[in-house]
Amino acid sequence: RIAGPCSLVIFGVTGDLARRKLMPAVYDLANRGLLPPGFALVGFARRDWDHEDFGQVVHDAVRANARTPFREDVWERLSEGFRFVQGTFDDPEAFDKLRDTLGELDEKRGTDGNHAFYLSIPPAAFPVVCEQLSRSGLAEQSEDKWRRVVIEKPFGHDLDSAKELNNVVNTVFPEHSVFRIDHYLGKETVQNILALRFANQLFDPVWSSHYVDHVQITMAEDIGLGGRAGYYDGIGAARDVIQNHLIQLMALIAMEEPISFEPHELQTEKIKVLSATRNILPLDENTARGQYEAGWQGSEPVPGLKDEKGFAADSTTETFAAIAVEVDSRRWAGVPFYLRTGKRLGRRVTEIALVFKRAPHLPFDQTMTEELSQNALVIRVQPDEGITLRFGSKVPGSSMEVRDVNMDFSYGQAFTESSPEAYERLILDVLLGEPSLFPVNAEVELSWKILDPVLERWAATGTPDGYESGTWGPESADEMMTRNGRAWRRP
Ligand code: BG6
Repeated sequence: RIAGPCSLVIFGVTGDLARRKLMPAVYDLANRGLLPPGFALVGFARRDWDHEDFGQVVHDAVRANARTPFREDVWERLSEGFRFVQGTFDDPEAFDKLRDTLGELDEKRGTDGNHAFYLSIPPAAFPVVCEQLSRSGLAEQSEDKWRRVVIEKPFGHDLDSAKELNNVVNTVFPEHSVFRIDHYLGKETVQNILALRFANQLFDPVWSSHYVDHVQITMAEDIGLGGRAGYYDGIGAARDVIQNHLIQLMALIAMEEPISFEPHELQTEKIKVLSATRNILPLDENTARGQYEAGWQGSEPVPGLKDEKGFAADSTTETFAAIAVEVDSRRWAGVPFYLRTGKRLGRRVTEIALVFKRAPHLPFDQTMTEELSQNALVIRVQPDEGITLRFGSKVPGSSMEVRDVNMDFSYGQAFTESSPEAYERLILDVLLGEPSLFPVNAEVELSWKILDPVLERWAATGTPDGYESGTWGPESADEMMTRNGRAWRRP
């Protein structure tokens, strides 16, 4: 579907996200013919730029990061709709100028008074920007003019601050016009969880505590935090990605079938499962956190967190976090969901593994099944997108030896279609007013409710354990699993 007439205003347009993701996504949408002919992109920032400087920055960002090939004609048409408004977030005059600019675009480019405001700025600045948008009349919607606001995480740093933030945003923008970005929900492989579960007969019968021993959700990154101290220090791995991406993945795995894919029906099911999710106790034995130290990434020596610019020598920010939760429902009672994430781990990989119980009986000589582990269904979210089913198979030869083998589905082999980048899909959905892929207020608050006790416990108990860069995290994470008679996967 093609978006109707509208403009997109990006606050924080000089930031990293705008350059790496947002500007390229806008160009890719234009290139795929999904933006309306008179589309306008407006940048708002303090920087002393004019329209041309802004155009040049977008140009460089597109050249460096767009997915689709550069086409002069597409660029020409798109860039005619670029405007830049200089100002600070608390400057009423700048917002009046923004209003006039948007008014002029409505007339000249036919954006029809429909505006999306993308707040790619620190949450501390949300209140003042919302206030200014309201004061200048820019937040006012009517039957035929929509106004939407897009916000980036962190949505607060705990339940109370999230509630406060939601209140502030909701006093200006009603919930139906608030789009909270969780870019994992824009990923092809994440949306495929719904197809895998609800388009097939094969998996549902085994998708429960009767067959599943436990679920492991891993988001491992090889990058460190050089250059990101301003955002990350004091936030840490759990707030950065467990509160949002990993808990959302868990909800998609654990939820019941929605009546339809209407946004409200999906949310209802996710909210139900999040409401039934609780931490496995005691927290000290069922969570782990770590901070990377110097080590090797590939063949490169890399510094520890405390030697990265902007992190203090006594920073207690965790760069690795693991938690264990259970869903109190008929389907899942007794099945632990282990969620872990970390920076500077062995490699970059995100996967969801359903690890099945062992067969109740093995009619083999014990020595014949030593290389047989538990069956597993692994959803490979990235980078090698696909799904793997691990099961035992007879080793060719005269004995009845059984060993693990993999059955693989890979996107690259199965499809010729390419998938859009997550931000591309999400920005288009904002412009279309399609809210399915955006967590609502209640989901955000429930996620904090799960995480808050862990964060409080960690804050009260000293510092994270160190782990060498390039390894799979602190020993305490392995011990957490060993105590449960299980082990982390090494994807
Ligand atoms: C972001 C986190 O949400 O996701 C970053 O703030 C992280 O810390 C990033 O690096 C990873 O995204 P992706 O899509 O590369 O897995």
